[in-house]
Amino acid sequence: MKVAVIGMGYVGLVTAISLAEVGNEIIAIEKNSIKLEKLKLGISPIYEPNIQEYLKKHKENIKFESNYEKLNEEVKVIFICVGTPENKDGTADTRSVYEAINEIINNNVLAKDIIIVIKSTVPIGTNKDIEKLIKNKTNKNIKIVSNPEFLSQGTAIDDAINPQRIVLGTDSKEAIKILKLVYKKNNRKYVITDSNTAELIKYACNSFLALKISYMNELANICELINGNIKDLEKGMGTDKRIGKYFLKSGVGYGGSCFPKDTKALVKLAEREGYEIKTLEAAILVNKNQRIKLIEKAKKYYKNFNNLNIAILGTSFKPNTDDIRESAAIDNINILLNEKANIKVYDPVSLEIIKEKYKDSIEYCNNIDEAVTGADLCLIFTEWKEIKEYKLNNFVKYMKKPIVLDGRNCYNFNKIPRKMIYETIGNKK
Ligand SMILES: NC(=O)c1ccc[n+]([C@@H]2O[C@H](COP(=O)([O-])OP(=O)(O)OC[C@H]3O[C@@H](n4cnc5c(N)ncnc54)[C@H](O)[C@@H]3O)[C@@H](O)[C@H]2O)c1
Repeated sequence: MKVAVIGMGYVGLVTAISLAEVGNEIIAIEKNSIKLEKLKLGISPIYEPNIQEYLKKHKENIKFESNYEKLNEEVKVIFICVGTPENKDGTADTRSVYEAINEIINNNVLAKDIIIVIKSTVPIGTNKDIEKLIKNKTNKNIKIVSNPEFLSQGTAIDDAINPQRIVLGTDSKEAIKILKLVYKKNNRKYVITDSNTAELIKYACNSFLALKISYMNELANICELINGNIKDLEKGMGTDKRIGKYFLKSGVGYGGSCFPKDTKALVKLAEREGYEIKTLEAAILVNKNQRIKLIEKAKKYYKNFNNLNIAILGTSFKPNTDDIRESAAIDNINILLNEKANIKVYDPVSLEIIKEKYKDSIEYCNNIDEAVTGADLCLIFTEWKEIKEYKLNNFVKYMKKPIVLDGRNCYNFNKIPRKMIYETIGNKK
């Protein structure tokens, strides 16, 4: 089927690829001219494992455009995947979603029957609002379907090609039938519900995972007080099927473009309805404190960071992505720069993005050796495979003082060289 995908970010580009994988023809709309030019040349503007190969494979059936007029062709379904970042007050900023809807209206795309699918994470009631807005603009049969996305950056393409479930929020049987044709593959699992519930499912999932992380981080803090071992605790809990083994890792808190904003947006949505969601408010607060744990630990070794050489390993918010949005490393770099530390950073894929942000206020390194050379302190924020597999003796060999504070529990305590000072989250040193 001919479908359109609007917004070529992490979700939109991967959605376009996954829909092309099952045989659809895609018109992909992006308004950012730099991203668009790259895409037209077959270059992905984002990092995701294997994305280049997929772009090459689908170069004939994904056409990148900026012009909404192209949607007047035989497009039957339009997926909206634009960003919904956080407003200053914690609510979701849906301006890009409405901008896309207005482009659709203004370019006369509503002159035929179509289905508009909202994949962006939007506040409860947004699909219904869009339905009302569109009803006044056309007498055609336009259906609005909430279809939240659950992919994780780093495994996004696999997640989108083989989703654990597809949530469709609509009361239109016709729209469901057509979307099942778009998603095509047999044995898909669908959860069909109303649009308000579909919108809430997305916030509920991200918030539940954030709760799990904050809970584990609090347990890690207790482990440190009782001289316990967080990894054994994770195993002890994760082997219980009722709990499950995922999202039990402790560390310097959650980040990224989704959990921080979606948790706050759900608090605001509850507030709007006159309800206080106390569990989530606590999880957000725990996360805020957890993100500066390494700095707190470092204060045991150094009273202040003035003129100290500090190596930062990992700047993306998690491995296998170049995304630095709400990454714990950023909070920490900012604090250290304020205290006039000399910072050297290494990250396998996000250095270019970090460079754009910090220009010449920090030093960018080509590898871990370079970053740790001469350092008084090393802080680890992302558990990239390369960082986990780094030769521990090199910390001793290259650092001025081999103090390594690891926010992602990368190494086994039994393998730490005698001369290295090593602290993690959830283990008493
Ligand atoms: N990133 C994730 O892991 C993830 C996972 C699930 C859901 N989501 C949700 O999906 C949505 C998109 O997230 P993302 O991370 O892909 O965002 P993103 O910021 O990476 O990408 C959004 C893209 O949309 C483009 N855009 C904005 N307005 C446009 C318009 N009017 N027309 C055409 N293009 C436009 C932007 O230029 C940008 O390239 C958000 O609501 C997010 O919460 C994200």
